[in-house]
Amino acid sequence: MNDYYAGLLNFTANIEKSWLRYNYATEDFHKVVADHAEDFDLSPLGDLTFQMQLLDHPSVRVNQHRSTFSDYHNQIFHNGRFLIEILNWSGSHVNVHDHDFSALQFQLRGNSLNVVYDFDQTSSAGALNFGRLSVRHAEMWKAGDRSVVRHGNQDTHSVFHLSVPTTSLLIRTAPTPRFGAQSNYFPTLSANYYVNSEIQRKKLTGLALLARQAPADFTSMLEKFLNEQSLSENFFMLLKLAELPFLERYVQTVITYAERGESEAKLVESVIANNGIDFFKSRASAMTDLPEAEKLAASIVAAGSSDVGVRKIITDLSELGIAMNFKEDLQSFVRRLNESDRDMANRYLSIFNVAV
Ligand SMILES: [Fe+2]
Repeated sequence: MNDYYAGLLNFTANIEKSWLRYNYATEDFHKVVADHAEDFDLSPLGDLTFQMQLLDHPSVRVNQHRSTFSDYHNQIFHNGRFLIEILNWSGSHVNVHDHDFSALQFQLRGNSLNVVYDFDQTSSAGALNFGRLSVRHAEMWKAGDRSVVRHGNQDTHSVFHLSVPTTSLLIRTAPTPRFGAQSNYFPTLSANYYVNSEIQRKKLTGLALLARQAPADFTSMLEKFLNEQSLSENFFMLLKLAELPFLERYVQTVITYAERGESEAKLVESVIANNGIDFFKSRASAMTDLPEAEKLAASIVAAGSSDVGVRKIITDLSELGIAMNFKEDLQSFVRRLNESDRDMANRYLSIFNVAV
């Protein structure tokens, strides 16, 4: 273990030496790592037990910090300029996002569907940018593959981890403030989560309690907040309340809000789409014995969230030689759901205009 880590330090020292020739520019970092990628064998780090042994190395110990990114996050190196983190996934997924860093990513284990998007921005309001998200291309990452993470919004993407486990390793720059905060993307807007303040979290917790204790008070409080908050605060609130405000007894409040104007309508459209995306992601992740082909079909629905997006992903994958029976696999996935979830799945599929 100590010998392996000493080898890793030598590898990182060489990367740093080469990167200095680019003035440690984030834009060029992934190229430098690619030049050195063959110098050191990273594949042992795909083994979870080896990662756990490494945890007791003093240099790895001091690098641990709390992260909700992946199901088991292990940062094994950080020199203040760049870092190495291992992301162990056990079936969960990543929302559509851009990057405030650049990196070379190594797929160590499992298959992941990577979908890259274009965002055509039309207007902005504070932390929200309105526009249209569309699928640029889709690919499958397999063990042994490498992929480039470019800084900023050049490669806005989402990743669906199909195998259990899936392990990826990133050699990446530290966050680079000149690229701004990372944003998340939804079908009609992009947002950064600066509004995720303690007061917003308190409001959400209170609303969840009211929904159970006093539904009439839930409605009046939600109306009050939607009338007095900014668009981005309202977006964050509705996003986090997920399907709750769309229950029959509350939905009129959301409808009234969406009718207030074009921005409000777009905001609600993205919240509904996000609920549908989360529905397919969460139901697929919860089924431990789900065949990978069916997980892929559910992931394609979540990634595309429209007939055009879904068709583009299927076309791109088939051009890469990945054969599938999308319709059959999706139908088979839907049949595994309980009755009320099956109704829900069909409702979201019709919102996405995806025929089954
Ligand atoms: Fe990413």
